[in-house]
Amino acid sequence: MNHLNHVAIIMDGNGRWGLKYKKSRNEGHKAGLKSLEEIINETIKKNIKYLTLYAFSTENWKRPKKEINYLFNLLENFLQNKIEDLNKKNIKLKIIGVKNFSSKLNNLLISCERKTNKNNKLQINLALNYGSKYELINAFKKLRKINKSINEKNFQKCLQTANIPDPDILIRTGNTQRLSNFLLWQLAYSEIFFIKKLWPDFNIRDYNNIIRKFKSIKRNFGNV
Ligand code: IPE
Ligand code: IPE
Ligand code: MG
Repeated sequence: MNHLNHVAIIMDGNGRWGLKYKKSRNEGHKAGLKSLEEIINETIKKNIKYLTLYAFSTENWKRPKKEINYLFNLLENFLQNKIEDLNKKNIKLKIIGVKNFSSKLNNLLISCERKTNKNNKLQINLALNYGSKYELINAFKKLRKINKSINEKNFQKCLQTANIPDPDILIRTGNTQRLSNFLLWQLAYSEIFFIKKLWPDFNIRDYNNIIRKFKSIKRNFGNV
């Protein structure tokens, strides 16, 4: 049976869910938070050590301003209301991506990271203004700056996911089969699950089905 250490999720389909059930994309984003909380709790229960969540990509800035503002307000409220709870659950929060938001949000993110820095039950990597191509280019730049030889080990240390093991599982909800600039290096050997359901409809049963399937997959890593 495979050991499950790290789950990465592209939480896709909020907008379509909102339009279908509430006539607004933003309502879908709000509804997505419920799935998020359920999945976080189940991840703790399952003793999984890392959960990486794609919340906002470098390409998502192309969206209407109204939607972007709504998303970041939602995030701000979520963190303000839930950080104590996350802290009590012994969760460490790490942001991957570039923190170039309003100074209020930047400070909030930094303070949440600091507050939870010593926690060790589960590490949540929240990908915010994250793009894998940008991350890779930056890693090359860092490597050149520190003048280290170019090899996998040194390169990995220059990624934003330095010291984090690669995801064992990638889940993408929302009935779309693409990576959308997410963890292109780190997903090299992950088991990928594309799920038809929209993110707000994704539940613990769906999650556990994936985990069960994952456990019995024969992972070769090139071997036979
Ligand atoms: C994913 O849901 C959440 C974010 C990108 C913030 P979408 O907003 O992409 O939802 P769809 O794919 O348009 O339904
Ligand atoms: C990927 O979803 C980003 C997040 C879930 C945050 P998108 O909905 O932005 O991806 P594309 O644009 O359909 O590929
Ligand atoms: Mg989408």
